[in-house]
Amino acid sequence: MDAKKFIDKQVAEIKRTVGQHKAISALSGGVDSSVATILAHRALGPQLKVIFIDDGLMRENEPDEVKAAFAQLGLDLEVIEARAEFFEALKGKIDPEEKRKAFRYAFYKVFGREVIKSQARFLIQGTIAADIIETRGGIKTQHNILEQIGIDTEKGFGFKIIEPLKELFKHDVRQVGRELGLPEVIFQRMPFPGPALATRIIGEVTPERVELVRKATRIVEEELAPLRPFQAFAVLMNDMATGLAEGKRKFGQIIIIRSVESQDALTAQPTPVPWDVLTKLARRITSEVPSVVRVAYEITSKPPATIEYI
Ligand code: XMP
Repeated sequence: MDAKKFIDKQVAEIKRTVGQHKAISALSGGVDSSVATILAHRALGPQLKVIFIDDGLMRENEPDEVKAAFAQLGLDLEVIEARAEFFEALKGKIDPEEKRKAFRYAFYKVFGREVIKSQARFLIQGTIAADIIETRGGIKTQHNILEQIGIDTEKGFGFKIIEPLKELFKHDVRQVGRELGLPEVIFQRMPFPGPALATRIIGEVTPERVELVRKATRIVEEELAPLRPFQAFAVLMNDMATGLAEGKRKFGQIIIIRSVESQDALTAQPTPVPWDVLTKLARRITSEVPSVVRVAYEITSKPPATIEYI
């Protein structure tokens, strides 16, 4: 792929579609939405408003880090605090697709409000080809694929969606990011799903359970960073198990570590993590997240497993 040509074509296309109107970009700080946002900013300048929804499901320090990284690029983000709204939407939901649906509606409701407030007509979204393939293939309903799940944003929320990356795969998106001058910390980031840590919790998503998986995720990312996996994270199980603390029985949480190698996220293989790294992870997670009594490493490829747990 010729990244330069792609950028020129998309910039012209975005300019033509948006015309004199305003657009909003939904930035999550992940690779795809970052690249889509910078592309749109190049096309629209001050006609683009960039918002970052703090849904309470991000990784440690993520809202501040994303804000700082984009400030360096001369882009001012507006952070929309919507944590309570997302937790309310997810309350009591156990089924994976129910959780995805609840997240999706909360997401577009918050966005819809912001679009109306700022009188924007367009929403720029970082959907990529793999998101569309997975949703159409009935694997799972990615949060941002609306045509398949019957959300008409124009009728329901008053805006049209522009998806400049929808024909690209992850490695092309990274190439475009590099060509656009994004810092490596952004375009080389691990993929992180739109519904964020909610995809890494089996059972109910509550603030306490998110905090637990957030801490474990930071440890997994720190310890596995030298291996540069495609994606690595922690998952919180719904069942509890028996362990020991200070010589006494302790009933606690189970964390699964998932780390995979992949090109395009359509297939993936487990990362061959050295044994000493795995045992260190188990030690760190059980001591730094004391409610966890067991840590396991997941060894399933995709297929038959998917990368995320919901
Ligand atoms: P799965 O779990 O389907 O994930 O093997 C494939 C890739 O997609 C990411 N993923 C998502 N990304 N919204 C996103 O933006 C979603 O709803 C979503 N679900 C999964 C996942 O992290 C992996 O990189």
